[in-house]
Amino acid sequence: MKKEKIIVFDTTLRDGEQAPGAALTSEQKLEIAFQLEKLGVDVIEAGFPISSPDDFKAVSLVAQNIRKSAICGLARCLAPDIEAVAKALKKAASGRIHIFLATSKIHLKYKFKKAEGEILALAKKATKMARNLCDDVEFSPEDATRTQRDFLFRVVEAAIDQGARTINIPDTVGYSYPQEIYSLISDIFNNVPNINKAVIAIHCHDDLGLAAANSLSAILAGARQIHCTVNGIGERAGNASLEEVVMAIKTRKDAFKNLITGINTKEIYRTSKLVSNLTGFVVPPNKAIVGKNAFSHESGIHQDAVLKKRDTYEIMDPKDVGIGKSSIILGKHSGRHALMRRLKDLGFILPPERLDDIFKRFKELADKKKEVFDDDLIALAEEETREKKKVYELVSIKVVTGTDIIPEATVTIKYKKKDCQATSCGDGPVDACYKAIDKITKVKAKLLTYKIDALTIGKDAQGSVRVEVKVKNKTAIGRGASTDILEASTKAYLDAINKIVL
Ligand code: KIV
Ligand code: ZN
Repeated sequence: MKKEKIIVFDTTLRDGEQAPGAALTSEQKLEIAFQLEKLGVDVIEAGFPISSPDDFKAVSLVAQNIRKSAICGLARCLAPDIEAVAKALKKAASGRIHIFLATSKIHLKYKFKKAEGEILALAKKATKMARNLCDDVEFSPEDATRTQRDFLFRVVEAAIDQGARTINIPDTVGYSYPQEIYSLISDIFNNVPNINKAVIAIHCHDDLGLAAANSLSAILAGARQIHCTVNGIGERAGNASLEEVVMAIKTRKDAFKNLITGINTKEIYRTSKLVSNLTGFVVPPNKAIVGKNAFSHESGIHQDAVLKKRDTYEIMDPKDVGIGKSSIILGKHSGRHALMRRLKDLGFILPPERLDDIFKRFKELADKKKEVFDDDLIALAEEETREKKKVYELVSIKVVTGTDIIPEATVTIKYKKKDCQATSCGDGPVDACYKAIDKITKVKAKLLTYKIDALTIGKDAQGSVRVEVKVKNKTAIGRGASTDILEASTKAYLDAINKIVL
């Protein structure tokens, strides 16, 4: 049977970023976009250009740098929105304008105070305008699953008539369920006369935990594009998770027959890690496909059976999603070759000039830890692959603290090739370090959030710190990892300060 491709439209950088607290800088968006390209997504929705200068910059930056995936920007059915997307996509190898307009009664009555006729006219006008600026236009009747079917059919037909190549059906509030989605998509195929001129896409939210199931149901009914996000992040309860939908199609070939995606599934785990690290959204251990426990077996009966035959309790091979079979990998006796091989398996191909540096840092880490896990290596490699531009570089910290003394920190930072040192007291040891840094940098920084997690298991696990810092009206997120949580905290704070001063 001839293979048929499901187009993967990733909206991690747009709907995913709409998750409260997931804000990303343009540089971070670009870092994720490079990884999404490597993952093999067909379309990257990089942002909503009219919504802020930062979003405009992010879409332009992604459009300039990504060559294989098509780059998409979101617009309301308004001329300035559409023009902003077209402008941001100017340098894209392949660009798409995605316009949306709510069509449900509740949105028409309370959000727009407009009649159906006016909405239809707006949809037509905007689609035509977008098509004049870009060959590839996608139209979304927002809240489609709560829209009167007859009106929905008319809007879809009109959008296709005006040149929309893709019609996306959003379950905006995550209200639908699989059978209903199946009948909705089937009805669209049966009632929209020009439907064969467009690809039908599905965009599901997870308010009832049904986003992946609903997306799969749409595919079975004939939809050929899925909107999804990495780790399922997104507005409210999130969007359909890319890894779940893609792996369901791959794993259940009996149900999805000749359907395939262009996703290199071996890049899934690494992409999930990157998105989680940059957004600060921790992946729950029981999350399907990418959670820490997704391929772990606790019960003795399961362990025994899996060792005899993996398929007894595992429906997917962890290697297929980029998770190494064993979680314990390298230690202080390991050599350069083993390290490079493991990094390559994890998807990191570092330029030769970085190899010495990462090997040195790996050895330092291995000296402090009994075991170096995949997650330790990923943190190390990500730090290494990130831009090396730094104004301030941490040289050392010395902290005196205890239950009945005021903590005092001495921090040394390299600035313009000179070591600068300052000592400060604080409410706690982290506060003392941050105050000492402030003395050196003379930057008046306000710490908005501070979060620490253990990267791996064990008492010697690396602490991974994420901070959000504000200086005047600029905010930045900083990250740092180390077996010493004070060092990790200091690195994270300096990382944020570096981003702001740069
Ligand atoms: O959920 C939604 O309806 C959307 C649209 C903009 C497609 O995100
Ligand atoms: Zn959405």
